[in-house]
Amino acid sequence: MDLFRYRQGRLYCEELPVADLARRFGTPLYIYSAGTLRRHYRKLASAFAPLKPLICYSVKVCSNTHILRLLREEGAGFDLVSGGELYRVLEAGGDPARCCFAGVAKTDAEIRFALAKGLRLFNIESEEELENLAHLAAEAGKRARAAVRVNPNVDPKTHRYMATGKKETKFGVDLERAERVFRQFAASAGARHVSLEGVHCHIGSQITTVEPYVQAVTKALDLVRALGGAGIEITTLDFGGGFGAEYEGGQALDAEAFACALVPLLEGTGLEIVMEPGRFIAGNAGILVTQVQYVKAGGDRRFLLCDSGMHHLIRPALYGSYHHIWPVDPGEDFTPAQRIRDEAFPGTEVVDVVGPICESSDFLAKDRHLPPVRRGGLLAVFSAGAYGMTMASEYNSFPRPAEVLVEEAEARLIRRRGTYEDLVAPEKDV
Ligand SMILES: Cc1ncc(COP(=O)(O)O)c(C=O)c1O
Repeated sequence: MDLFRYRQGRLYCEELPVADLARRFGTPLYIYSAGTLRRHYRKLASAFAPLKPLICYSVKVCSNTHILRLLREEGAGFDLVSGGELYRVLEAGGDPARCCFAGVAKTDAEIRFALAKGLRLFNIESEEELENLAHLAAEAGKRARAAVRVNPNVDPKTHRYMATGKKETKFGVDLERAERVFRQFAASAGARHVSLEGVHCHIGSQITTVEPYVQAVTKALDLVRALGGAGIEITTLDFGGGFGAEYEGGQALDAEAFACALVPLLEGTGLEIVMEPGRFIAGNAGILVTQVQYVKAGGDRRFLLCDSGMHHLIRPALYGSYHHIWPVDPGEDFTPAQRIRDEAFPGTEVVDVVGPICESSDFLAKDRHLPPVRRGGLLAVFSAGAYGMTMASEYNSFPRPAEVLVEEAEARLIRRRGTYEDLVAPEKDV
């Protein structure tokens, strides 16, 4: 699954003890395993190889330019949702011709930037956006390539905040309207400036069953066939991302399981396939290391008061997400055989792992059985590689954590720790 392992009572990232990294780079600290990132990317690439897909890693998941560079070297293109993400991809040497650009509210400035760079695909989320793209492409003297993001009204069976393919969400164009959008656009003047050649759908995130994909892709293919019947040729199908990562043990499916269901549906269609995985690649490739500042009792609870919390990893507060947490150096007696929810160890105590933020939503875990941890102890928050650092903030004016990338026995700082000067820099000379 990943290359974070306990050996003789100590946590290692690949070949390096995590405690040594925390000493060297300080806490809070995001640590990523390059081997895990590569392994997960390759699993997907190999499972879906029969489709020869363009794999666009979803930048929002973990957007450090060093990680983008690593994945670019593996062969990835990129899925973007903002001009800022395009900027990051360019910084990392990514090829715009291997990028797709979704996002419900793209600004004119972002569209102009993307047009100037020549993206592979604009994933259009509304009729007005399509009209605007045609207008801006004409202005720039370019012909854009685009897909309509359809909303297939499929329940991805995930947290409601991560479901994007249901009718009541803001994403995409309802399937019933999509055919009309293609037909009307084909007959419009805008068609000179936009090649509307694709169907896109992304139904949600942390999806752990194949059925929602089968339903969504089947509906998308029905649309492609209907359009073909009307003389509108669709050449590209982008089925988005959403493959789940492992948070609790035994939960996520492997790439083969998704491929077994999807490859037979898509093979032989002649369509160019795009996919946009994020969490599957990065989720288990990162941990957040935090130091316990104090331990205290409050009411009937016991709190581990840490130097990291919802401002660095918001998933527990936002989605009620489970992240496995365990001491970095628990000793042999507390070395878990595997990382699963509620692993029973004699001698553990029930604690809430909380951060320094002035909000009662500031927790990383509640009611956890952990080995006794004292002031100064280090905790590892697992499966923090996706939607961790990218959703971090400077709330309460805590500078952002540092990020380190480990490859075998080598550790590289890939983002320095934020400073107090960073906090106020944009407010100077205004
Ligand atoms: C359009 C789009 N594509 C891909 C993704 C990546 O999803 P995941 O990280 O679940 O693979 C997202 C995330 O929400 C998205 O909005």
